[in-house]
Amino acid sequence: MTAPVVLVTTSAEATREVGAALAAVCVPGDVLLLAGGLGAGKTTFAQGFGRALGIDEPVTSPTFTLVRQYEVATRPTGVRTLFHADVYRLERLGEIADLGLGQLVEDGGVALVEWGDAAEPVLGADALLLALAADADHDEWRTVTLTARGPSWLKRWKELDVALTPWRVAS
Ligand SMILES: Nc1ncnc2c1ncn2[C@@H]1O[C@H](COP(=O)(O)OP(=O)(O)O)[C@@H](O)[C@H]1O
Ligand SMILES: [Mg+2]
Repeated sequence: MTAPVVLVTTSAEATREVGAALAAVCVPGDVLLLAGGLGAGKTTFAQGFGRALGIDEPVTSPTFTLVRQYEVATRPTGVRTLFHADVYRLERLGEIADLGLGQLVEDGGVALVEWGDAAEPVLGADALLLALAADADHDEWRTVTLTARGPSWLKRWKELDVALTPWRVAS
């Protein structure tokens, strides 16, 4: 295991930039599980991630649709499709499994899963876990804690650490 990478963003735009930096190191098949309460910044992160992939449509909360799918036109990192899921409304692990995200990403996709900590038993064998948390003293600050789950992320940990240097705090 590696130590978690801990970041602080001081604006919504900074969280989008973190999303963009991660999109740049993502490869087809990646699953990112986004944890954190309502308003923590999970969708904001996804907006920056989508923007870096060149997705022009606005990335909005998939709460009622469960999974939104965006085609990546330019494919700078080989990623062809972004799946953006929100499993908040799903009560059973079986329902999360039924979304089939693990299979969907196999064909050139990447998945971002809001409330993804709930999906860990299904998707967490090889995933990046991002926990977003508000700050007690500053409305616009968020702590973002990244933890690698599984071999594909551990392999890229150094690269990821370097890419995220601008937002790093001592950990
Ligand atoms: N540092 C920050 N990171 C992310 N969002 C922030 C930050 N500061 C303020 N915000 C605001 O907090 C809200 C986060 O909402 P959203 O991304 O939809 O959260 P979630 O999807 O986790 O419920 C947005 O209105 C955003 O503008
Ligand atoms: Mg959201």
